[in-house]
Amino acid sequence: MKMLFVILVCISLNAIAQAQENPGFISIDCGAPNGYHDDNLDIYYTIDTGFVESGKNMQISSKYIDRVPMQQLMNLRCFPNGTRNCYTLRPTQGKSKRYLIRASFFYGNYDTLSQTPTFDLYIDVNYWITVKDPSNYTYEEIIYTTSRDYIQVCLVNRGSGVPFISALELRTLDNSTYDTSAGALQTSWRYNIGSKTTYRHPQDDYDRIWEGQSFNWTTITNKTNVDSLRSTNNAYKVPLEVLMTGQQSLDNISSSLKLFWISSEPTYKWYLFFHFAEFQVLRSGQLRRFRVYVNDNKLITTVTPEYLKPVTVSTFPFDGTVLNFSITSVTSQSSLPPFLNAVEWFRSIDLPHSTTDLNDGTSSAK
Ligand SMILES: *[C@@H]1O[C@H](CO)[C@@H](O)[C@H](O)[C@H]1NC(C)=O
Ligand SMILES: *[C@@H]1O[C@H](CO)[C@@H](O)[C@H](O)[C@H]1NC(C)=O
Ligand SMILES: *[C@@H]1O[C@H](CO)[C@@H](O)[C@H](O)[C@H]1NC(C)=O
Ligand SMILES: *[C@@H]1O[C@H](CO)[C@@H](O)[C@H](O)[C@H]1NC(C)=O
Ligand SMILES: *[C@@H]1O[C@H](CO)[C@@H](O)[C@H](O)[C@H]1NC(C)=O
Ligand SMILES: *[C@@H]1O[C@H](CO)[C@@H](O)[C@H](O)[C@H]1NC(C)=O
Ligand SMILES: *[C@@H]1O[C@H](CO)[C@@H](O)[C@H](O)[C@H]1NC(C)=O
Repeated sequence: MKMLFVILVCISLNAIAQAQENPGFISIDCGAPNGYHDDNLDIYYTIDTGFVESGKNMQISSKYIDRVPMQQLMNLRCFPNGTRNCYTLRPTQGKSKRYLIRASFFYGNYDTLSQTPTFDLYIDVNYWITVKDPSNYTYEEIIYTTSRDYIQVCLVNRGSGVPFISALELRTLDNSTYDTSAGALQTSWRYNIGSKTTYRHPQDDYDRIWEGQSFNWTTITNKTNVDSLRSTNNAYKVPLEVLMTGQQSLDNISSSLKLFWISSEPTYKWYLFFHFAEFQVLRSGQLRRFRVYVNDNKLITTVTPEYLKPVTVSTFPFDGTVLNFSITSVTSQSSLPPFLNAVEWFRSIDLPHSTTDLNDGTSSAK
C-alpha cells in the first residue's frame, strides 16, 4: 500500500509539472544539471536530454558565476567532436507555424583557455549566422516557418574554436504576424521607445526582448487606462508596458522622427515593424496623422492611430549601405506631432536549400 501511494504521488507531481509548462514554448538551459522554473521570467527551463545527442555539459568560470544577468548563462554545452552538432526541436504545435527561435551564448571562460570561439549556426539545412566573439552575453534570434514537424538548430565548427551554446528557446507566434516574403527574419534590434526598461516574458506573451531605448526626441507616456489596451491589442501583442511609453518629435509638428543605420552588407534586405498606440484623448478637432517613409522618400503608409488601438506597420523589403526611416506629420491635416512606441528591425535570411532536398546528415559546413 505504501509503495502504491508513493507511485501515485510521483505521477500526480509529474502531471502538475507538465501542466505548468509554458504553452507554445520550448526552453532549454543547455548544459544545466537540472530543470527549474525561472521566477523572474516565469518560464520553465529543461535540460538538454532528448534534444541533442552529442557534446558535453560545462559550467562557466566561477569568476563570472555571480555576475551573469540570468541563470541560463551559468552552464553551457560544448561540442569538441564533429563538425556539425544539432539540437532537434519538436514543437507541439507542429509544422507550418511561425516560430521565434533564440540561441544565447556566454563563453565565461568555461574551458579556462581565455579564447572565445567563432562558429556558424544553421537552421535546418541552411546557413543562419556566424557567432563571433561571444565573450559577452549575446544572442541570435530568427523568425522561421517550417514545413516539417521538427526544426534543427546546428552548431558548425569552422576551425576557430569549439562551438558551444548557453540556451535555446522556441516561441510559437501567431501565424498572422511577421508575414513577409523573406525566407526567415533575423532580429537586429527591438526597441521599447521612450523607456529605460527592457521587457520580455511574462510581460510579453511571445517572450521577445524589448530593449529600453530613448532617442533625442520628446518622451510621452500615459499609464492611465493602459489596461484597456489589453482588450484592443492586435496579434503582435506588444506588451502594454512597451506600448504605454513612446516618443514624439522634439520641436513642432512639422519636424519628423528620423533614424539612420549602417548595414554591414549592402545586399541585406531589411524589414521594419513599427508599433503605434494613441494614448492621448484627442479633443474635438484634433487629429494625429503621419506618414512612414524608408530610405528618404519611399512611402510605406499613412497612419491615423485611434485611441487605445495599437497599429503595426510593416515595410516592404529595402536595402542600402546607409538606411533610414522617417515618420512625418501630414501637416495639412494633423494637429499633433508624429510618435513611435516600439520598433523592430529584421534582415532577411535566404533559405536556398529546401529541407526536402537534402538529408539532414549530408549538408556540409562552409
Ligand atoms: C569526443 O571523442 C573522443 C574520442 O572518440 C571521446 O573520448 C570523447 O568522449 C568525445 N567527447 C564528446 C564530448 O563527445
Ligand atoms: C502559417 O503561415 C505559413 C506561412 O505564411 C503558412 O505556410 C501556413 O500554412 C500557416 N499555417 C497555418 C496553420 O495557418
Ligand atoms: C564585455 O564587453 C566589455 C566592453 O566591450 C568589456 O569591457 C567586458 O570586459 C566584457 N565582459 C566580459 C565578461 O567579457
Ligand atoms: C537634440 O536635438 C536638438 C534639436 O535638434 C539639439 O538642439 C540638441 O542639441 C540635441 N541634444 C542632444 C543631446 O543631442
Ligand atoms: C519646426 O521645426 C523645424 C525643424 O526643426 C523648423 O525648421 C521650423 O522652423 C519649425 N517651425 C516652427 C513654426 O517653429
Ligand atoms: C491619459 O489618459 C487618460 C485616460 O484615458 C486621459 O483622460 C488623459 O487625458 C490622458 N492624458 C494625456 C496627457 O493625454
Ligand atoms: C537615407 O537612405 C538613402 C537610401 O539609402 C540614402 O541615399 C540617404 O543618404 C539616407 N539619408 C540619410 C539622412 O541617412
